[in-house]
Amino acid sequence: PRQHTLAVIKPDAAEEQKGFIISHQKETILSKEVAEEFYTEHKERPFFDQLVQFISSAPCVLLVLSKENAVEDWRAAMGPTDPDKAKETSPDLLRARFGSDILHNAVHGSSSEEQAHREIQLMFGDQSSEQVTSSE
Ligand code: CMP
Repeated sequence: PRQHTLAVIKPDAAEEQKGFIISHQKETILSKEVAEEFYTEHKERPFFDQLVQFISSAPCVLLVLSKENAVEDWRAAMGPTDPDKAKETSPDLLRARFGSDILHNAVHGSSSEEQAHREIQLMFGDQSSEQVTSSE
């Protein structure tokens, strides 16, 4: 029979990477429509269908991470898009540790403040948008 266990990501784990605060989070299975919108900048890429299929195939944990310089610092913590390249850079990078190939690369991070705003609105816009996009 299926067993259950409770896992807790404690405050120290969340803050381990350079002091990020998790200001919003949810676990959800993205619809294909939301996934297509999320990755709209890649619409013309040959891997777009695979990308949408993969990200909507099972639950994702979505986090709004907050700190000074969060966009750049989170991208630095993830490392290069391709886990093989990440491994060459440093085994501590998140994609080096948890990614398996360029499609299955474990984590995403917004590419700019503008993208972060758009992506947060898309994923958390059903909650109070002021709350989600405030600078705190
Ligand atoms: P992400 O940071 O979420 O942004 C776009 C994603 O496209 C990227 O992570 C990769 O998972 C994926 N991606 C980029 N290049 C390729 C590729 N050549 N083949 C498959 N997936 C890719």
